[in-house]
Amino acid sequence: MTTSNIGIWLVGARGGVAATAITGLCALKDGLAPDAGLVSQLPAFRDVGLPDWDRFVVGGHEIRDVSLGDEAMRLATESRAIDPQLIERVKDQFPAIDDRIRLGTIYKSGSAISDLASEAVVRDESPRDAIRRLKEDMTGFAESNGLEHVIVLNLASTEPAVDPSLAPASWAELEPLLDRPQECPLPASSLYAIAALDLGYSYLNFAPSLGSATPAIDELARQRNTRHMGSDGKTGETLMKSVLAPMFHDRNLKVMSWVGHNIFGNLDGRILDDPVNKATKVTSKDRLLAQILEYRPQTLVSIEYIESLGDWKTAWDHIHFTGFLGTPMTLQFTWQGCDSLLAAPLALDMIRFTDLARRRGHVGLMPFLACFFKSPQGVEEQGYIRQFQALEAWANEDS
Ligand SMILES: NC(=O)c1ccc[n+]([C@@H]2O[C@H](COP(=O)([O-])OP(=O)(O)OC[C@H]3O[C@@H](n4cnc5c(N)ncnc54)[C@H](O)[C@@H]3O)[C@@H](O)[C@H]2O)c1
Repeated sequence: MTTSNIGIWLVGARGGVAATAITGLCALKDGLAPDAGLVSQLPAFRDVGLPDWDRFVVGGHEIRDVSLGDEAMRLATESRAIDPQLIERVKDQFPAIDDRIRLGTIYKSGSAISDLASEAVVRDESPRDAIRRLKEDMTGFAESNGLEHVIVLNLASTEPAVDPSLAPASWAELEPLLDRPQECPLPASSLYAIAALDLGYSYLNFAPSLGSATPAIDELARQRNTRHMGSDGKTGETLMKSVLAPMFHDRNLKVMSWVGHNIFGNLDGRILDDPVNKATKVTSKDRLLAQILEYRPQTLVSIEYIESLGDWKTAWDHIHFTGFLGTPMTLQFTWQGCDSLLAAPLALDMIRFTDLARRRGHVGLMPFLACFFKSPQGVEEQGYIRQFQALEAWANEDS
């Protein structure tokens, strides 16, 4: 049995979720973190052959001129999200990871994201030149660390929405546009996806940005015998929606309206404060209700940046529904979660399951990972429980 290492290439490698995932991975390798929050540590997956934590090596792309250690420490001091003593115990591992982080691209990422970028980020590359550079960084990482495979995970800021229908439907039509910036509609997240998939690496999109969600990029993945999945990690309010909405559906309780107000104050919140970036996230948080309920109630999703809350997101949902004899009733819930701590374990989980899919020879979209995503590509089922059962069934089918 092979024991060579597996690369995790994080796009947005010094952001909140990335710094938390890296801290968590270092802690798991050293036996300092309990299993809580990690789906892949459940007994249901004990015997399926997931890779051990110590087989992963982390590198990535970033656009801000900050250090991983400082960003991780801010999660302790400013957000009060991670125990500072834990960071003290793993921080010796950060400089080597920081050295493996390269400057990314901000191609068609919009002004809110380019305002974050360091002066050193190249701003006038063609998509093809950007992809070539990203690929060199990824292969350099694989070669210098003797990696068996690399899994590229998009943890970068949410980009403005791009209509996927604007991208040509086939890879043969899309590929020539990489030399024609005026005509190429793809944002940075898709250039990272193309770079990864063209190399035969796996690609996962934790952000609601376009990433690999076009038929042409899916075709590229299948041509290269590799795999991909997105989009947008399902960590908090939308997770609750995907658990509660099937209950309303199955009890034949008619939802008249579902209002969700979200407030938080981290860097992700600052980017989502820009209306064009916010629109991408609102669409992702809103679309599952009509699919689960099989009718369209009135919905409202608001996301507001409240700086003092830092990483602590509060969602207040108000669900107005009718029961027997048409009597109106209300369910309200308040979700107060620490955003990065909800997201980071899922990022680590999906990486482990993706490696299992690779070893099983899986090619194309990975629908069995749907439970991890708000907008699972190519999957109709939006209810969390059924999605989780699908993961459990897939993971255990060959073990
Ligand atoms: N609970 C959650 O935290 C959660 C849930 C679902 C989805 N997401 C999504 O995950 C992503 C990361 O969230 P976060 O809280 O870590 O955000 P963050 O703002 O803390 O981190 C994003 C990082 O990406 C970097 N970045 C931006 N554009 C880049 C580019 N083109 N190339 C390379 N790096 C780039 C930024 O500099 C920053 O360091 C966001 O898109 C967010 O919407 C987060």
